[in-house]
Order: sequence, then structure tokens, then C-alpha cells
Amino acid sequence: MTTAAPHTASEVKIPPPPSGRGLLGLRGMPPADLRAILNLTKHYSDIANERQADEPLLKGLAVANLFFEDSTRTRLSFTLAAQRLGAHVIDLAGQGSSFSKGESLSDTALTVEAMGVHAMVVRAKGSGSAELIARVVKCPVINAGDGTHEHPTQALIDIYTLCEATDRLDSFDLSGMTVVIVGDCASSRVARSNIASMSALGARVVCVGPPGMAPASLRALGCEVLHDLDSIAPEADAIMMLRIQWERHSEAVAAGADAMRKRAKLGSLRQYRELYAMTRRRADSMKPGAWVMHPGPMNRGVEIDQEVADGPRSLILRQVAAGVAVRMAVLARTV
Ligand code: CP
Repeated sequence: MTTAAPHTASEVKIPPPPSGRGLLGLRGMPPADLRAILNLTKHYSDIANERQADEPLLKGLAVANLFFEDSTRTRLSFTLAAQRLGAHVIDLAGQGSSFSKGESLSDTALTVEAMGVHAMVVRAKGSGSAELIARVVKCPVINAGDGTHEHPTQALIDIYTLCEATDRLDSFDLSGMTVVIVGDCASSRVARSNIASMSALGARVVCVGPPGMAPASLRALGCEVLHDLDSIAPEADAIMMLRIQWERHSEAVAAGADAMRKRAKLGSLRQYRELYAMTRRRADSMKPGAWVMHPGPMNRGVEIDQEVADGPRSLILRQVAAGVAVRMAVLARTV
């Protein structure tokens, strides 16, 4: 424990947020700004698991979690991060709020802001929801995952964890690294934020999956696209597995399992596992020292096998552990 680490506004040098307010996405964010957040994360990682400091940075401020879509990791770690910085945290979920009676996202956000909130953390099903709210409220808005668009704090977690595991915390430079993202890339806001930020920091990012989940159009984001995982696995420094996001294939889900498989161009789930799951055999084909990642939630036995998720290559719980420090850094820069 490093209780002597600086923790107050006067002691910690907080650079201003790049956009002036909030954090809506990482696409287009300059490497210097990414590194500024990651460096602040390094500072907070020393104290993120301690109880609140005596003179916390956000003392007396209120942070609202507006979660219109389910979450475990993001919601709890934003709550802990805000509390460890001394803020009051209020929580609103779609279910149980007046959102379920037809109140709009904008009116919900304006209503919460009118109570004296200093920042909002927003998760929603619709891509662009966080930006929509940021356009109507005056306080900073942090995107905690909006539809298939972006999940910026998750990508910052992934980069921080990978740099920690590969001794790159001094530079946050991913040059020379190949990061392979596998599965339902088209539906994944985590993939989009990681493609933008990891490639900005120098990594080669390769998306792999069946054509319906890793379409060639993803190349416009700055990554490579492949459909053969076994051909790239031995080259990877890290392979990030993604859950199949059935909830984002809504029309196909309504039409039943066959339509879902057809839409994703999956064949059968068994065939998907044969080609794209992180099995023990596939993990063994990776080079020594290469890592397996997953932003969560995992579906064990579908995209990743138990023995790999809990095995020596896995960074999965270290990703979760980095969540509080990353979110402290983002809140500290934003609020
Ligand atoms: N990775 C992530 O966003 O997890 P949660 O949905 O549990 O927040």
C-alpha cells in the first residue's frame, strides 16, 4: 500500500480533458491524450483499492450513474471510483425509473442534472446515446458503453492491463504488438474503442470472425480483417475474445435460432467453436508470453474454455482489477 501517494487537487497534476468535457469515445483521440489518462491511471492504481483518502479530489460533488442497460463491471467500478475520489454517487437504472414510463433519455438526464449533479456516467442500448445526453446537459458526460458505438473506459482498461503485463507502463507504446480481436466484432463497442486507441498507440489490430461478425467494412476503422483464427493465433501478442452479442441481433433473435445463425453467417454454434473459440489447443498454439483477454461478461464453453479463462495466459481478472483506477483517472480528468 502506498498511502502517501498524492491524492488531492493541489497535489495531483490533472491535465484538462481533451474535448473540454466528458469522454464520449476514443476515436480520433491523440496518443498524447490517451497516454495522459493512462499515466493518471498508473497513479491511481496504487491507491484504487484503498479506502477513501482524507482530502479527495471530488469531495462534495455528485456523480450520477445512468444505466439503461445491464452491467456488472462498469457500473460497480464507476461507483467505487467516484466514491474513492470522495464524490456522492446516485444510481438510476432503466427498469424502476420513469424511463420505463416513456420519459426520454434527454428528459431523464435534464431531470437528474436539475438535482445538482456534477457528472453523468451513461450506459444505453442506442449508439450515440451518451452524445445525445451530452448535447442537452451542462455537466460532463462519460460514455459507459452506447450500443455498438464505443466503450472508451473498457478500451483504456484493456490497454493499461496489456501494458502492465508486458512492461510498457513507462511508455504506453504498443509498437510491434499484434492484438487480435475475435468474435462478434461488428456488434462490439469494445472492439471499436480498442481498434481506435490501440492502433493510435502503435499496435497492429486484427479482427477475426465469421464474415457476418467480422465484415471487411471494419477495415475502414484502421484494423485488418481475417476469417481464419488459426493462421494468426501464433503471431498474436494478445488475443481478445468477445461474447456473441445476441441482444444486438434483435430481428434475427425474434425470428429464432436459425435466423440468428444465418444473419451471423455462423453455421452452427459447434462450427463457430471449432473455428473461433479460445480452446486449450488454440491457446497452446500461441507464442510463449502471449496473453488472452476478455472484456467480459464471458460465456464459458462458448467463445472461451474454462481452462484458458482461468489459465496462466489469462488477463481477464487483471482487466477487471484495472477498472477502478481507469475510472478514477477518467473522473479526475473530466469532473
Ligand atoms: N465489460 C463490460 O462492460 O462489462 P459490464 O457489462 O459487466 O459492465
